[in-house]
Amino acid sequence: MEPTKKRVFSGIQPTGNIHLGNYLGAVKNWAAKQDEKINYFCIVDLHSLTVPQDPADLRFQTRSLAAMLLACGIDPAKSTLFIQSHVRAHAEGCWLLNCITPLGWLQRMTQFKDKSAKQESVLTGLLDYPVLMAGDIIFYDANEVPVGEDQKQHVELARDIAQRFNSLYEQEFFVIPEPVIPEAGARVMGLDDPTVKMSKSLAHVRGHAIRLLDDPKEIERSFKRAVTDSGNEIVFSDDPEKAGVNNLLGIYKAITGKSEAEVLADFADARGYGDLKKRVAAVTIEALLPIQARYQQLMADPAELDRLLAIGAEQAAAVANPKVDQMKEIMGLVLPQQK
Ligand code: AMP
Ligand code: TRP
Repeated sequence: MEPTKKRVFSGIQPTGNIHLGNYLGAVKNWAAKQDEKINYFCIVDLHSLTVPQDPADLRFQTRSLAAMLLACGIDPAKSTLFIQSHVRAHAEGCWLLNCITPLGWLQRMTQFKDKSAKQESVLTGLLDYPVLMAGDIIFYDANEVPVGEDQKQHVELARDIAQRFNSLYEQEFFVIPEPVIPEAGARVMGLDDPTVKMSKSLAHVRGHAIRLLDDPKEIERSFKRAVTDSGNEIVFSDDPEKAGVNNLLGIYKAITGKSEAEVLADFADARGYGDLKKRVAAVTIEALLPIQARYQQLMADPAELDRLLAIGAEQAAAVANPKVDQMKEIMGLVLPQQK
């Protein structure tokens, strides 16, 4: 008998420019493993509202990200790709989970502490963000949650919330999810500062990130400017001094799928960091050009994009809405009578 396929859920926010870190740390792996699992990939627009957004901009970015995910190889025939706000269970179920989640659990989240420290006025939604995320995962009975290192604490909170519900209501209602962190590409660092993670919120800063829609000239320029060290040794290394070179090699490794030994062999004849940067730029451009072409095609056909997203929403709703209805019943709410 074929073993039952694992259920996978992951999400990505539509705001900020999607960059090489998102691709290598998340989306590329989602696409590569589609056949092995039952997949739900969600554009988490409700999460984006936890900080102020311009409505027209949010709308554009949501559709643009959908096109980009499809262009990166998320296949609607193999995976359910949908927009979070299209499925009512997310916002509705989040309220139910709020009512069993202790406030202290949320106040302890490092991302909340970091983000709230940087803002003058903190919205309630920002504190509640991990509860919304927990719902995303557990309403689909997901076993695995592929994310970058930074999201591990949130997935652990999802486990705690699921366990709390199960024990409060004395039944195995929610599956307890596991975070799955990729090895290669787990942490792509900023090209301008290899000690900080490449991040969407800095993607507008010149030379920080490779954005998936950058043209070849821009990609070459960003790599050319990448911060390295004063030496000339092309090696993988944990030495903070060599963080820049290590990051460039890590990017090359994640894009080509080669082993460390194969990567180093590729650079055995390189003449200095200039050559290293050129070759990393070349493989990046080669990987991104076809993605950019598919993206343009999808953006030129909004009706087709909407059609695909409607199918995704329907498939997702068929799982999450009944799960949240069951939750309501378990918690003592009276369900409306079906006519
Ligand atoms: P975000 O950019 O925070 O919406 O993240 C979307 C996905 O990309 C999550 O799974 C993150 O963990 C992953 N991710 C974000 N930045 C990086 C990075 N610099 N390196 C590797 N993965 C990343
Ligand atoms: N919080 C995640 C991030 O910023 C995005 C996200 C929302 C997510 N819901 C999710 C990731 C559920 C995995 C599973 O990267």
